[in-house]
Amino acid sequence: MLSVGRLPELAADIDATFLEPAMGDGNFVAAILTRKLAAIREGGRSWNTSVLRAMCSVYGIELLRDNLADAHRRVLALLIDAAKAQHGRRPRPDSAFLKSADLIIKANLVQGNTLTRRDDRGGPIILSQWSRIAEHPSQVQRVLFDFAGSFAASDTPSLFSVVATPAIRYQPCPYVEVWKETQE
Ligand SMILES: C[S@@+](CC[C@H](N)C(=O)[O-])C[C@H]1O[C@@H](n2cnc3c(N)ncnc32)[C@H](O)[C@@H]1O
Repeated sequence: MLSVGRLPELAADIDATFLEPAMGDGNFVAAILTRKLAAIREGGRSWNTSVLRAMCSVYGIELLRDNLADAHRRVLALLIDAAKAQHGRRPRPDSAFLKSADLIIKANLVQGNTLTRRDDRGGPIILSQWSRIAEHPSQVQRVLFDFAGSFAASDTPSLFSVVATPAIRYQPCPYVEVWKETQE
């Protein structure tokens, strides 16, 4: 059982997975991400990879689309500010880093009703599993899965112990190239 007292410690682990089931405009996800960013020790280009890796582990579901859009903007702004502080300049909007950050944010922070496990069109809530490639630590593989599938065995969701329904898999690629969305 997770004790709330361990949250700060866990949030400083850039790979520890968090899911905020009623995200609002992103208070909790922004706080978790801020702690993860503070724990990153790498410099240079590796910093960008670690930031994207940290973002891959933070998930949120929000009922209302305007709140969701606010959360997207807020988390992207947080990453832009962090990149500016790290590199001394604002990342270009068309940089691979920002395009990948934007894609991961929109893949992980999604519209849906956590209770019904459906989105506002009645469809499944699709999330992404991001698996780091052991032999190539700067690379990741994205696989889509249905959030409802996480509940197959119990009422407590267990993200990623799930088998994705017909899995859409993307090719393993560097974190900064996930924006290319190349499917297998
Ligand atoms: C009071 S806000 C809390 C936001 C955030 N948890 C925080 O701590 O700042 C509650 C949010 O939960 C959302 N919400 C309510 N029921 C929900 C549901 N069944 N699934 C997803 N989001 C829901 C609302 O739209 C609202 O944005």
